[in-house]
Amino acid sequence: MSNSSTLIEESVHIDCEILFSEIYHVAPTIKVQSPGRINLIGEHIDYYGGYVMPAAIDRYIVICLGPADQSDSKVYSGTFDEQIIIPANGTIDPGNHHWKKYIIKVLEILLESGYKSRPFNVALTSTIPVGAGLSSSAALLCGFVSALAEYNGWLISLEKIALIAQTTEHRLGTPCGLMDQYASLMGKKDSFLLIDFDGLKIKEIKVDLKEYVLRLINTKVHHELTDGGYARRRREGESALESLKSFYSKSGSYREFSIDELNAMPPFDQTEFKRARHAISEHQRVIQFAEAVAQGDFLFAGELMYATHESLKHDYAVSCEEADFIVEEAVKSGVAGARIMGGGFGGCVLCLMDYSVEAAFKEVLVPAYEKKFGLTPEFIDVNLGERVVTSLA
Ligand code: GLA
Repeated sequence: MSNSSTLIEESVHIDCEILFSEIYHVAPTIKVQSPGRINLIGEHIDYYGGYVMPAAIDRYIVICLGPADQSDSKVYSGTFDEQIIIPANGTIDPGNHHWKKYIIKVLEILLESGYKSRPFNVALTSTIPVGAGLSSSAALLCGFVSALAEYNGWLISLEKIALIAQTTEHRLGTPCGLMDQYASLMGKKDSFLLIDFDGLKIKEIKVDLKEYVLRLINTKVHHELTDGGYARRRREGESALESLKSFYSKSGSYREFSIDELNAMPPFDQTEFKRARHAISEHQRVIQFAEAVAQGDFLFAGELMYATHESLKHDYAVSCEEADFIVEEAVKSGVAGARIMGGGFGGCVLCLMDYSVEAAFKEVLVPAYEKKFGLTPEFIDVNLGERVVTSLA
């Protein structure tokens, strides 16, 4: 980890503890560092039981919590300078307000599952940019539930926390898979996670990138998964999978099918055909990527990232003009691999490059992007991170 990232990490912790003390006039008793995530490869296949390879990063939501001496509970966000007061016996309507609705909804789901918290006070700070595709909502939900579990002594597995966070997203309109929640809860500082969402098996892949670096480039195009595009892709892909299964009389997920089998199907809906082609080919790329990383073949790993971008652009249709432009410039600048990352429709492009290429790439990309889109793309260093739950009492 670089020194600058250690400093960011420390400052967000101190900020959160100071914020808590300023607001509640007492020190917090529990602190949770809840990371955002990147995804190396395996995009839009977690919800089809595919393989994915995410990692937790050193961008965090920090949650400081302490007991409340009133019967209401309070949550204060330092990022938005806003507070929610949650009455002891009552529900409140958070409206469509981004961070508040996650807190209210997850408390509702916890109650339904039999987890009723003692009154609490919470302060939140964050270094995860919102809407950049780095899973700030998964970090918030998983971190908040982790803090409540620690506070109330709930014995609750990480898998269960992930499911509660996922149910919250579903109820709020994003029918997501479990990749973001697993990455945030189970990611390790020195590893990528190879997650098999068929049998829910996780393998930690220790990372030594040698002379290569990972960078995120924020397109600054706001990414919103609740507006229907994500859900539609998933419906189309599920429908195509049903057609494949019924034609070949097979059961299981996309990994049971090959591109040859897809091509040999009688003609069916072109859009659904493309969604299926992405899911089948992406699954194969994840396996190849894992092998390439194990062998330290980052040039091949990078080629697979470019192939994923093409598939997300043409077959899954979740890219955007801005991300495509960055990827085209990356190819020209000799970047090993680049692709739109996460849910898509904006957010970040993930790049893998020899560190010696970065300065020249940036010098070309930034003015060209500014000229074309009137926005300044932000380069974000990526270091791996992990969740930490600390008892301060
Ligand atoms: C979002 C979802 C994940 C996953 C990705 C795409 O981040 O929350 O479950 O589907 O999009 O890979």
